[in-house]
Amino acid sequence: MGFEEYYTVIKAYSDIHSNEYKKRIETLEPLLLKHMTTRGKVLDLACGAGGFSFLLEDLGFDVVALDSSESMLERAREFAKDKNSRVEFVKGDAKSIPFENNSFEYVIFIDSLVHFEAAELNAVFKEIARVLKPGGKFILYFTDLRELLPILMGGQVVGDNYWISKVLPDPEEKTALIEFQSESNHFRVRFNVWGTIAVELLAKRYFRQLHSEKLNKHSYFQVYTPKK
Ligand SMILES: C[S@@+](CC[C@H](N)C(=O)[O-])C[C@H]1O[C@@H](n2cnc3c(N)ncnc32)[C@H](O)[C@@H]1O
Repeated sequence: MGFEEYYTVIKAYSDIHSNEYKKRIETLEPLLLKHMTTRGKVLDLACGAGGFSFLLEDLGFDVVALDSSESMLERAREFAKDKNSRVEFVKGDAKSIPFENNSFEYVIFIDSLVHFEAAELNAVFKEIARVLKPGGKFILYFTDLRELLPILMGGQVVGDNYWISKVLPDPEEKTALIEFQSESNHFRVRFNVWGTIAVELLAKRYFRQLHSEKLNKHSYFQVYTPKK
């Protein structure tokens, strides 16, 4: 099973009205507000179902959102219609962002590192630095999977119906295949494994770090500004 199907069963990413999704927003909203003190143009990169785009729009930001998945964008546009939102949802690849240089005051990139291998993430960071205005902010929230995998190996409930039944890292621990099981179904998804040190090393090529905090045992909220 690929990511698209994974997202359809994991409400924390696909249903902005679910408790799991709301909890993510509740955790991140105060941090976003603390670091996004002046209003401006925001790119919600790999926006998924769009919950963070709507949050920032409600807070007075001018938001454009981009994702590569047509099904996630469809979901986001449905939610947008219900909310009378003016957020523009654009199909595109984070490795080649379809916007001009110096277009945004902020780029937010939340919970999406698992989709990218090292060379790809390098391209994404380079693109983020390009589309940010000088002095703009890149806001990154991610899970250090190296820290999380041992916890997942103990088996964990995901959403209402699934638990993690297997975690199979490749020998080099660059990716991990995770098996989700329910009473009647199971599927496996391969994730890229990112540790904090590797993320920071890559980011350092294009950005200066302004802030970093660890939110729980394995999640990091970081703020960068482009070196330009
Ligand atoms: C876990 S979801 C997170 C979505 C959103 N940021 C959130 O926190 O709710 C990761 C998203 O990354 C998107 N994605 C994966 N590869 C991408 C790429 N190359 N370019 C843009 N989006 C991508 C997926 O379609 C998915 O919607």
